[in-house]
Amino acid sequence: MMVFTLFSWIQHHHHLLLLLLISGAFFAKADDSLPIIRTICGRNQSKNPEAFDVNFVNTMEMVFQNVTRAGFGTAVSGTSNIVHGLGQCFNYLSPTACQLCYAESRVKLPHCLPATTARIYLDGCFLRYADYNVSSDAVDEFDAFVCGNSSASNSTEFEDTAIRLVRSLASEAYSSKEYYKAGSSAGSSGVTVYGMAQCWRSLNVSGCRDCLKSAKDSVARCLPAADGKALNAGCYLRYSTEPFYLAKTVESGGSSSARRRLIVALGSIIAALAVIGIAILWMKLRPTDSNDDIDGSQEIIRSISSSNLSFKYEDLRKATDNFSQMNKLGQGGFGSVYKGVLPDGTEIAVKRLFSDARQWIDQFVNEVSLINRVQHKNLAKLLGCSVEGPESLLVYEYLCNTSLDHFLFDSFNKNALDWERRFDIIIGTAEGLAYLHTSCEVRIIHRDIKASNILLDESFKPKISDFGLARCFAGDQSHLSTGLAGTFGYMAPEYIVHGQLTEKADIYSYGILVLEIVTGRKNHSSIAESAEGHSLVSLIWQNFNSERLTELLDPNLQDQCSEEQAIKVFHVGLLCTQASPSLRPPMWKVVEMLRSNSKDLPLPTRPPFIGIKGASFKNEGSETSSLLTSSLRSPNSVNQMSVSAVQGR
Ligand SMILES: *[C@@H]1O[C@H](CO)[C@@H](O)[C@H](O)[C@H]1NC(C)=O
Ligand SMILES: *[C@@H]1O[C@H](CO)[C@@H](O)[C@H](O)[C@H]1NC(C)=O
Ligand SMILES: *[C@@H]1O[C@H](CO)[C@@H](O)[C@H](O)[C@H]1NC(C)=O
Ligand SMILES: *[C@@H]1O[C@H](CO)[C@@H](O)[C@H](O)[C@H]1NC(C)=O
Ligand SMILES: *[C@@H]1O[C@H](CO)[C@@H](O)[C@H](O)[C@H]1NC(C)=O
Ligand SMILES: *[C@@H]1O[C@H](CO)[C@@H](O)[C@H](O)[C@H]1NC(C)=O
Repeated sequence: MMVFTLFSWIQHHHHLLLLLLISGAFFAKADDSLPIIRTICGRNQSKNPEAFDVNFVNTMEMVFQNVTRAGFGTAVSGTSNIVHGLGQCFNYLSPTACQLCYAESRVKLPHCLPATTARIYLDGCFLRYADYNVSSDAVDEFDAFVCGNSSASNSTEFEDTAIRLVRSLASEAYSSKEYYKAGSSAGSSGVTVYGMAQCWRSLNVSGCRDCLKSAKDSVARCLPAADGKALNAGCYLRYSTEPFYLAKTVESGGSSSARRRLIVALGSIIAALAVIGIAILWMKLRPTDSNDDIDGSQEIIRSISSSNLSFKYEDLRKATDNFSQMNKLGQGGFGSVYKGVLPDGTEIAVKRLFSDARQWIDQFVNEVSLINRVQHKNLAKLLGCSVEGPESLLVYEYLCNTSLDHFLFDSFNKNALDWERRFDIIIGTAEGLAYLHTSCEVRIIHRDIKASNILLDESFKPKISDFGLARCFAGDQSHLSTGLAGTFGYMAPEYIVHGQLTEKADIYSYGILVLEIVTGRKNHSSIAESAEGHSLVSLIWQNFNSERLTELLDPNLQDQCSEEQAIKVFHVGLLCTQASPSLRPPMWKVVEMLRSNSKDLPLPTRPPFIGIKGASFKNEGSETSSLLTSSLRSPNSVNQMSVSAVQGR
């Protein structure tokens, strides 16, 4: 039964999910994951992180398909906020190892968002995204090299041998068909040097030559270290005293970790084969193939359009003045929102979904059937929808004060939000979320709580909107991840890293929102910045329990509230953004804390990603890695691995 549920679920969502599924399986063996050599995040930040994130996820999915098929792939998506991607496995990886390597880099790279460019080098593959075409980049300012810290025993001879080897590999690689060359060279005293050179396949011959020339000079600077790696925009070059490029195929003499990795790989392959077998059997036994999913949607669409929720497309087009730019209220990841006026004078907000892809239809039907069942004073009310026209539309009540972000992050509009209003917004949002999490018939995880999804009515009462990402979860299915959506600045660490989704992720996002509301500042930072202590959350954490905490209060709020009130809200915000999901209080508890006068709140523990140095988040023995291991003992991991294998056919 469980297997069937899983499979039908996969049928519905396979496009977005595969990546996370394999990465989930991969991380379940976190001890054996490939070492990250370096992550390099660009300095510029995206001006529209939401749209950029959506294109990022899209691009990574497309690159994934080509990389797993051919070891190399490029892709681009978006019309504005374009995201280009490029992935390359080093030729010595087996196809399975390549998939795993890609999956890991795919999960680590978003740590750089909202930077507009970033790249990651793993021991086996390379992945990069940028807001411009990177295909022909050979060398650039971010090029780096990494040296081992032990020296070879007979250094003069070793240096000579290594230099000779590296030089010949570099020149052979750019003239070879695959831009790849690996080899070894033994010195007379028994030292052997191993080396490998690889250019990305998108370069032309002269680009590859230039890149390797620079890489060769970089690694030479590592000598006499026993290991050197050059990390360039268009190529990778390494020498070592270890036969590193043989590790994936060698059967004996490898280190114990290499052997363990081999056993894991074999286990995965056997499990994969078993599940492919089951899948094929199951497909054969099913009378109707993958079409019933679409039929299912269409049935819902039919039943909606015959209900009283149905609007005519033509009427809505008129109401919004042909979706004129003047009436546009905003733009989310899943569609634009327009103001409209019906013939009887009722003001409405019309959300125009991007409906050209299957997944949006899915999303749409989900939203309609979901919102219609869920009613609460702090949730935006759905009036109806239009499903039969050229595109799908949702109709909401119109809230004249648009969304919270228009006030909170605007130096002029901000004045409208005094302390009392902000506190009401904080409590109201908590109540709306508590309702979603516990009170309605199905448990709902919103997944995208952020300022632009909090709408404000004429008296600035908050209403949570955009259930486009919400899914219903019945009981024990909660650990199935449904694709990396959401907006990165607000995303819980366990969700970014493993796609693990529970209501605790909403609580984290809510905590970020609370801290934004009291400080009037946007939590715009990437994980790298948090690590250096520059993010909003880390700033508040560092000043918690000190006199200086109240200095972080929005200057507009000074003298409007007591110090005690302000500190309590900071405190609740920190409790919600703790690194460990299990320590974050449930939303009903948050409401209680905010309403009561008791000063007896538990002390918050550390937020995530603080005090972790720079690029590599592995091997730090800190929260991140314990988070990694604790949340990953998912019982589905074996099945998840096999999903990717099924897709690979
Ligand atoms: C982005 O960074 C580049 C250098 O990496 C700089 O030349 C450019 O002006 C920056 N763009 C913006 C919009 O800041
Ligand atoms: C990537 O895959 C697409 C089809 O999904 C194909 O058209 C394209 O040629 C591939 N590109 C590369 C570089 O392999
Ligand atoms: C990127 O540039 C390469 C060559 O410079 C070109 O072949 C490729 O089509 C470009 N890709 C896009 C998406 O424009
Ligand atoms: C190789 O690519 C680079 C960068 O796009 C370009 O400047 C150069 O002219 C190309 N060389 C050849 C021989 O096509
Ligand atoms: C570098 O040195 C440290 C101790 O100084 C050691 O723990 C670590 O394993 C070394 N790294 C490599 C790659 O040899
Ligand atoms: C180091 O290598 C040089 C040159 O091959 C050789 O003459 C010398 O005996 C070696 N020394 C040791 C300690 O192996």
